[in-house]
Amino acid sequence: MGNAKQLNEISWQEFKDLPLAEKGEYFQAPTYHTLIAQQFSRIQLEEICALATKIRRISKQRDGANFLRTLLSDKRAMLYFAQPSSRTYLSHNAACQILGLDTMDVRDSKTSSEVKGESPEDTVRTFSSYVDMIIMRHPVGGFAERVAWMLSNTNRPIPVLNAGSGADQHPTQALLDIYTLERSFEDIGGIDGKSIAFVGDLLRGRTVRSLAWLLTLYKKVKVYFVAPEQLQIGEDVLELLDAAGMEYETTQDFASVMPKADALYMTRIQDEWDADGESTTIDTSAFSIDAEHLDRLKKTAIIMHPLPRRKEISISVDSDPRAIFWRQVRNGMWVRAALILMTFGRQDEVNTYDAESNPN
Ligand code: NCD
Repeated sequence: MGNAKQLNEISWQEFKDLPLAEKGEYFQAPTYHTLIAQQFSRIQLEEICALATKIRRISKQRDGANFLRTLLSDKRAMLYFAQPSSRTYLSHNAACQILGLDTMDVRDSKTSSEVKGESPEDTVRTFSSYVDMIIMRHPVGGFAERVAWMLSNTNRPIPVLNAGSGADQHPTQALLDIYTLERSFEDIGGIDGKSIAFVGDLLRGRTVRSLAWLLTLYKKVKVYFVAPEQLQIGEDVLELLDAAGMEYETTQDFASVMPKADALYMTRIQDEWDADGESTTIDTSAFSIDAEHLDRLKKTAIIMHPLPRRKEISISVDSDPRAIFWRQVRNGMWVRAALILMTFGRQDEVNTYDAESNPN
């Protein structure tokens, strides 16, 4: 695997207690487990984005699509989604199909032996016996890390890809967001120097937590965290950003941020994490955007959303060319295909194919 640090050289308790940046050292290049945003370097992000673009380009031709389908035809993946999902599930499944990787899925713990009292660890170990990779979403924060640690300590280790864990991490969403930002800002100097505004439920939005970290890998990015006081970004995230030297502001004043942002990253209220419906009493109407706000945005600004949306983006915004959340959905498929291919170390075949079909 080539990583400096290996999960079979540390106890679970010691690993679990490490700060995120140190955890990341266990999953650095070459890509194997994908668990937390803190494992990525900028070089790796650029490599994933470039590979996603090549896969997208190659897949447009029938010969290319057929070539891509041979790349992982000897592999199988398990999609274990113990939490609701449309896009993330489908885009991982589509990404696997692009690469010829067969998939199996469990989308409801009630249909697995967990109802017979099997531990979640044994359940996942069973899944792992049939496949070469586990792609998983789980309501318990850190459970994907636990599974990766556990499998790395068996005689048949396989990679684990975290497709959303608790309210803490959503690394593949952050990667597709970076890819979308990079492509959108291609002609205006890339992500460096841009201002990104996160708006909505920042306390419990795992996509925001993962993406905010990845933005620290770019130069002079300024971040605005725009949220009602009760849903403002956690201190733990701000401490990480401070340590990385990132410039940010927390505010409730969305109107003042609108004209300054190069990207608005809108999010919904994550009330499924409420103990007692408490966030339904918060007035979030000021943390939304509709057609009448569009004049206030920069001409080059983009409006993003990890989806699903509720009322924070009015459908009257969808026809504006700056609304790119549907493009994000499609980008997710290409980025996940790139990531899965790199997990198995087969990216060179795509690089060679692309160089031969686009000689210049
Ligand atoms: C997000 C998630 O599940 O964290 N959805 C997604 O994967 N695109 C955001 C959300 O549910 O609000």
